[in-house]
Amino acid sequence: MNKKTVKPTEEAKATKATAAKAKTAPKAKKPAKPDKPRVLYVAAEVNPFSQTGGLGEVASSLPVAVNGTGKAEMAVVTPLYACVGEKYRKDFEFICHINVPVAWRSQYAGLFRYVYRGVTHYFIDNEYYFKRDKLYGYFDDAERFAFFTRAVLELMPYMDFKPNILHVNDWHTALVPIYYKLYYMYREEYADIKTIVTIHNIEYQGKYDGNLLEDVFGISGFQYFTLEWGGCVNLLFGAIAYSDMVTTVSETYAEELKTPEHACGLQDAINRFADKLTGIVNGIDTEVYDPSRAPALFAHYDAKDRSGKVQNKLALQKLLGLPERADVPMITMVSRLASHKGLDILKGAMPRIISEDVQFVLLGTGEPEYEGYFSDLERSCPDKVRALIKFDPSMSQKLFAAGDIYMMPSRSEPCGLGQMMAMRYGTIPIVRNVGGLNDTVREGENGNGFIASEYTADSLAAATKRALEMFRDKEKWEALVDRAMNEDLSWKVSGEKYIALYKKILGI
Ligand code: GLC
Repeated sequence: MNKKTVKPTEEAKATKATAAKAKTAPKAKKPAKPDKPRVLYVAAEVNPFSQTGGLGEVASSLPVAVNGTGKAEMAVVTPLYACVGEKYRKDFEFICHINVPVAWRSQYAGLFRYVYRGVTHYFIDNEYYFKRDKLYGYFDDAERFAFFTRAVLELMPYMDFKPNILHVNDWHTALVPIYYKLYYMYREEYADIKTIVTIHNIEYQGKYDGNLLEDVFGISGFQYFTLEWGGCVNLLFGAIAYSDMVTTVSETYAEELKTPEHACGLQDAINRFADKLTGIVNGIDTEVYDPSRAPALFAHYDAKDRSGKVQNKLALQKLLGLPERADVPMITMVSRLASHKGLDILKGAMPRIISEDVQFVLLGTGEPEYEGYFSDLERSCPDKVRALIKFDPSMSQKLFAAGDIYMMPSRSEPCGLGQMMAMRYGTIPIVRNVGGLNDTVREGENGNGFIASEYTADSLAAATKRALEMFRDKEKWEALVDRAMNEDLSWKVSGEKYIALYKKILGI
């Protein structure tokens, strides 16, 4: 049939007329574009209130840096754990309390507010969930963080901060973007909020049996397929799928996450959502990690006048009962004692390292195999080795300052902060070229450290040998220390990258 000769039916005429009318009808008002990003940063730990690792450092230092620029505003929300110090609590402002659904349960949630270093912190209170000795590692962590994330969303209207971005971190807070898209984005007071998840370490994913979906997370079983990865509910996968943007803590790690060696089973998910993934290397808090004023140090110094540095070495040697010698190279290490932190290859390299004229001081706790190995080594080499099997933030600063060389041979390292803290204190890192270590440490003419390019004891022993050789050449060594101390390790550049990302996601 020739189409041109077909007459329009009455129905088609009517539709056309409505369409024409719609064209001329006044358009619905679009919401005004926000003037700047307002980011509610959701973190399961925040230094100095609660901290077990690098996340706590980032959650305290990134918001301070971003707020300092005036280009975006960040506020932080975190659980009120038992460990939050009284010296802060006494100045907390109580805002309100409500009841929050945790599937079929209804739980008390109190909201407190406290401004610290120019950043508003909101604390969510529930003693049943958070008044415990540790932050994590309990049988009911799934329920505790289902409560926390639900409470963040339920309490948002009571906060004197109206975010246009919810920025969450790791699996503990992964339910925020999921709940937001399932239950909240349709309500007027929650409209037009973007979501970002940052992966600090993909090893921890929040994997739970499908039975928890309705009973603990309060999500219909029909959604199982949107949260399932590898045969169970995987909260980090859910956050990757549901969030508008995914970031991780270095450029190299963003690439590594696409591979099975580093992605702990999530590589296919990462590849599927690769177009929303960005890697931004962390900075460190250069005000807290400042050798010219950190209270934990024995003596202060800076890049221009480093005379105080050796005083730290001599004082630490005295404190630990090691021979007090300024000339001996001291290798320090602050680490969780786990194989993937490089402890396995270090153990293999250790006999060669201590056959040299060195001192080695280790601080950390972890797998009994390594706690035992290094304690035994201390007993057999009392003039060279100290194994401090404990978690001690003040001692870790002393080790950063007292060392000449800092050991960090991780198998996988999303960003790593220790190598940066060491450089800031003029202590030269030996690292592997992975993740953020690869993005912050270079070896060679203009280098700031040493690199073991293979994950083997031989490669690590060889890198250590190169470091010790250079240590003997004072002129070269001082130039190396100079470069390390003059690196910009602050949030200046990376903070701007986050601001650019926030703006991009808001379309401003
Ligand atoms: C995790 C990562 C570490 C990173 C830190 C902060 O602890 O293992 O590499 O520096 O998070 O992002």
